[in-house]
Amino acid sequence: MIKVITYGTYDLFHYGHQRLLERAKALGDYLIVGVTADDFDKARGKINVEQSLMERIEAVKKTGLADEVIVEEYEGQKIDDIQRYDIDIFAIGTDWEGKFDYLKEYCKVVYLDRTQGVSSTDLRAEKNLVRLGLVGKYDGIRKYAAECAYVNGLNVEGACVDDKILFRKEFPGVQFLTDDYDELLGRVDAVYIASHPSQHYMHIKRALLQKKHVLCESPIVLDVVQYEELTALAKEQGVILMDAIKTAYSMAYNRLILLLKGGKIGRVVSVDATCTSLTDLQNSDYKDLGSKWNTICAWGPTAMLPVFQLLGPEYKCKTITSSFIDEEQHFDIFTKIAFVYDHAVASIKIGKGVKSEGELIISGTQGYVYVPAPWWKTDFFEIRYEDSNHNKRYFYQLDGEGIRYELVQFVKAIESGRPSFYIQAATSKAIVQIVENFYHHVDMITI
Ligand code: CTP
Repeated sequence: MIKVITYGTYDLFHYGHQRLLERAKALGDYLIVGVTADDFDKARGKINVEQSLMERIEAVKKTGLADEVIVEEYEGQKIDDIQRYDIDIFAIGTDWEGKFDYLKEYCKVVYLDRTQGVSSTDLRAEKNLVRLGLVGKYDGIRKYAAECAYVNGLNVEGACVDDKILFRKEFPGVQFLTDDYDELLGRVDAVYIASHPSQHYMHIKRALLQKKHVLCESPIVLDVVQYEELTALAKEQGVILMDAIKTAYSMAYNRLILLLKGGKIGRVVSVDATCTSLTDLQNSDYKDLGSKWNTICAWGPTAMLPVFQLLGPEYKCKTITSSFIDEEQHFDIFTKIAFVYDHAVASIKIGKGVKSEGELIISGTQGYVYVPAPWWKTDFFEIRYEDSNHNKRYFYQLDGEGIRYELVQFVKAIESGRPSFYIQAATSKAIVQIVENFYHHVDMITI
């Protein structure tokens, strides 16, 4: 019996896949089809796959051509499979010509002509394209403009940006640059808002009233009444309002939260997060503070994310300790917040005028997690136990600091009409509540 194996993602199963499988089957008597696992695809940079692994497997099974379907989970697995299943022929499309010659040591390698004119990528791109507008300072939106290029189904249509010359130079493909936000709204389906936090409410509301989807830097707004008004408005208008904390969408961070919810270090008793940067307050340049993000807005949401995601929004009490540099006491260069829960504590330490080690430590009854600086864009963490033989290190692919995955989730939320579950509404609201307390000096000590 001649055994043949072939591999693929088989997203949105199409005629090219069908023909490939037919010809692979005809090469022998028994066909094994390896379908790529979601994580494996992400790790090799294929982040836009629409269908889940189960849906893709079902599509392959439905052809009736595969005698066996297996899941491809890791790099190097092909050699293992060929030996384990005693394979005679490895078959793959000519888009991979030459790339699998190294398998000739183990079996015959056949490249089959790729069917012209169809691909999963094209099918994904044919779906309704979301036209995105960007709002904010050049520095705030440039990373998002760049990352959009990697996301299927999303196109940057225009921007409302301060430095148009620089933007045009870096992103010549983006045709429409304006100072008129309403004009931008008229041309897009969705906006990414990275304006100053004091402008978020106005920018979001105007977008929602025109039925535009919104991805907004956190904090979404500066008080809870406004937050509730806007979330209700988004619902009423049938559009998405999503919190843009990129860390929430990065693989390592997301997996870490899932592992801890599953009890990997026992009960979580303490969460301690530090985030600092001196970038736009360097050389004690405390000028033009009104246009800059203070510490609580720039770092607060990211640092509070693991606190609220692991311990929930219902803390018993908190103390906000801040150091200000302006008379109005709006611009904090350093803030520390201590939270007390019924059975846990948490602290965040954040600064734009103070520097510290940007690590995340989560302590539990059976062990602890250490995420080295800068933890908010990590691809790695370690779970440590009393017996260090049980310590485990976890590595994950991280592209575009999480922004790319965040944009993919935004598009998915728009397509499905369901909010992304990566950041719960209760978490976004709890963040806004703390920011509101900060501005009203509730539970605050100044130093
Ligand atoms: N294939 C083919 N003809 C096509 C598309 C795919 O013969 N028009 C083959 C590929 O060469 C591969 C298998 O089908 O052997 C699975 O390919 P996959 O990567 O899942 O499909 P693509 O359509 O190429 O997906 P994408 O656009 O996401 O790369």
